[in-house]
Amino acid sequence: EPFTITLRDGTSVPVAADTTALAALRGAGVLLMASCENGVCGTCECGMLEGQPIHRDAVLTRQARDSRFIPCVSRAKGVLRLDL
Ligand code: FES
Repeated sequence: EPFTITLRDGTSVPVAADTTALAALRGAGVLLMASCENGVCGTCECGMLEGQPIHRDAVLTRQARDSRFIPCVSRAKGVLRLDL
């Protein structure tokens, strides 16, 4: 499913169904480090401010899932506001 990421500066970044949040953010000019691109290393971890994430990573603790996001594999419903 497509969803939308919003950045601190108010920019909206659409994430199409066939791409990752990481790729969409990079396409919008956000510089993000990444390594495994498979949800296991944690390199691409971002802060998350608001929204309904669909976490698909294998690195975040349950507690971290309230405030962190792994954009190489995770998605969201609707609009997700990231600390970027
Ligand atoms: Fe490894 Fe995203 S790049 S978890």
